[in-house]
Amino acid sequence: MSVKQLAKRAIGALGYEVSHRIKPKVVGGKHYGPVRPVASYSPWLDDLEFATVFDRIKPNTLVDRLRCYELWELVSQLGHLSGNILEVGVWRGGTGALICRRAKNLPKNPIVYLCDTFKGVCKATDKDTSYSGGEHADTSEQLVRDLLSGLGCQNFKILTGIFPDDHLEAVENETFSFVHIDVDVYQSAKDVFDFVWPRMPVGGMAVFDDFGFDTCDGIPILVAESQRDSDKLVIQNLNGHAIIVKTA
Ligand SMILES: C[S@@+](CC[C@H](N)C(=O)[O-])C[C@H]1O[C@@H](n2cnc3c(N)ncnc32)[C@H](O)[C@@H]1O
Repeated sequence: MSVKQLAKRAIGALGYEVSHRIKPKVVGGKHYGPVRPVASYSPWLDDLEFATVFDRIKPNTLVDRLRCYELWELVSQLGHLSGNILEVGVWRGGTGALICRRAKNLPKNPIVYLCDTFKGVCKATDKDTSYSGGEHADTSEQLVRDLLSGLGCQNFKILTGIFPDDHLEAVENETFSFVHIDVDVYQSAKDVFDFVWPRMPVGGMAVFDDFGFDTCDGIPILVAESQRDSDKLVIQNLNGHAIIVKTA
């Protein structure tokens, strides 16, 4: 054990925590720095089903517990809405499987469409300073199917390819009550959002992952563009999500 690890352990034994100091910085013209909410209500600790599912999907996701719990909670509130569910940006299936498990309990039995290129990120532009395309290609459709089957989920359809470009026929006449957009870059997220929005009922929600990370600096630009629209309630959450609710 290194001196650093020993020191950390000793300080931990005294009831303190040592964390790396992150200095605020400006990326793409916006500030990024440490975000440490002081609230302590932790409903995910009371939800045993969530805890069990999260433990199963954890090795297959890049998304932390707080954002996963928010997805879990939001999906549980879709019962009164018509329309299916969509995730674009599945990678190894973690958040997609979580959404499927939660959607199984919904009264209208929505299908969860899970879409990924399985060849990595696409449509990176100069709005995205950290991505150039092809990142997160270390996955496969089979890997996702195995995770879903292990969780007892059958309420899904996998769409392989770029969304929406490669799937216009498959989903042209669909409606979506919920979309999880986890695609890392501006143009890809914009194309998904622009496709889904007219196909969403009032009360439907779009959750943007990647909102709070300096590596995904194109996403706050996109979310800010929606802020002025009268049919949208934009919630800039501090956990790394932005949520847009359809109000009209
Ligand atoms: C960060 S990963 C998704 C992470 C995943 N939700 C999780 O639970 O960790 C981003 C994924 O988006 C996919 N992607 C990006 N743009 C896409 C698009 N327009 N259509 C389909 N997949 C896309 C990439 O292939 C990549 O697997």
